[in-house]
Amino acid sequence: MGVPAVVAVLAVVLALPARGLENGLARTPPMGWLAWERFRCNVNCREEPHQCISEMLFMEMADRLAEDGWRELGYKYINIDDCWAAKQRDAEERLVPDPERFPRGIKALADYVHARGLKLGIYGDLGTLTCGGYPGTTLDRVEQDARTFAEWGVDMLKLDGCYSSGKEQAQGYPKMARALNATGRPIIYSCSWPAYQGGLPPKVNYTLLGEICNLWRNYDDIQDSWDSVLSIVDWFFTNQDVLQPAAGPGHWNDPDMLIIGNFGLSYEQSRSQMALWTIMAAPLLMSTDLRTILPSAKEILQNRLMIQINQDPLGIQGRRIIKEKSHIEVFLRPLSQAASALVFFSRRTDMPFRYTTSLAKLGFPEGAAYEVQDVYSGKIISGLKTGDNFTVIINPSGVVMWYLCPKAQLIQQQGPRGTSRLPLL
Ligand code: GLA
Repeated sequence: MGVPAVVAVLAVVLALPARGLENGLARTPPMGWLAWERFRCNVNCREEPHQCISEMLFMEMADRLAEDGWRELGYKYINIDDCWAAKQRDAEERLVPDPERFPRGIKALADYVHARGLKLGIYGDLGTLTCGGYPGTTLDRVEQDARTFAEWGVDMLKLDGCYSSGKEQAQGYPKMARALNATGRPIIYSCSWPAYQGGLPPKVNYTLLGEICNLWRNYDDIQDSWDSVLSIVDWFFTNQDVLQPAAGPGHWNDPDMLIIGNFGLSYEQSRSQMALWTIMAAPLLMSTDLRTILPSAKEILQNRLMIQINQDPLGIQGRRIIKEKSHIEVFLRPLSQAASALVFFSRRTDMPFRYTTSLAKLGFPEGAAYEVQDVYSGKIISGLKTGDNFTVIINPSGVVMWYLCPKAQLIQQQGPRGTSRLPLL
């Protein structure tokens, strides 16, 4: 190749827009609140002023996040879902919020949220319409809508995929990544693309997704039931060989919202959803009424050690390591500083089950000893050796969850006053 040819090639390469998302966001799974599962497309503000999709709902939830201890724990995103927009774009073809339900506009809502140390998320749909029938973002509108969201001060975008073809999605999702980058505003980008393509290769390219999206919905919408949680758990762990390597800092699988605090889950099932989402390194997006949430649900969602595990900086997604004939399953997530999290999950429906095993049977290295903390009860087992048999009692559709630190390392980490680094609840 002569010099002019090299220059020509270089010019073309440099003119190509950057493909990666390169936004440095979501180094740990995003945490916050998302309207959809609990509040859906309720636009009946006349009869249900506090339950409908309106600026009041988001302002009230922002108040709760800021005042009830959520924000300090990391729950920072307050996210609008579908049904916020007016049915028509404005004279300049811009998206606009419904004037009755969002009279002050999205910019004012973003200001309100930011004033409380929180971030605002919004919803769009790559296609002619959103899933709920509101104006969508067709390919020719991608850049304009990205600019609108940035001007409003939006911090996260969930881009759904109703009413578009596979071909349009293949163009549109990367196009929106570039358009968001071009706004210069840091905006976390959540893509529903894989969920519309069956969630698995060869139709889904997880390497590409990791380059253009911060998180992505892989599978069906969660509903307010244990059946729904189980079907999601089944799909994600059945396909863990594909999904687990796709996750990491800046790019996460999203098994959908936490429904803890609603109507469909028992106490045990709520604890199970939280533990299994944490093992999956899933975004923790609650969809519940934070104004009326019961203390028992709040306690699950605000468990400090749980959140620390979910937010582990290594960002390694965990795996199911054992499926016993007894309907006990064991999950393991490796954590930073050689720590790890174990979840013992019971699919039984009879009574609390005594499950006996050892760390050796779970694949831990021989000759080691661990400091173990039960994530829910806070109880500590000191010096558990790999070969020791132990028994956990797991309630039906419940979990026992452990945080484990190697003992030698604990000693190394001890401060001058012998203070243990094990988190105390
Ligand atoms: C799709 C999405 C849901 C929700 C609705 C809104 O079904 O998967 O999470 O956003 O659309 O209409």
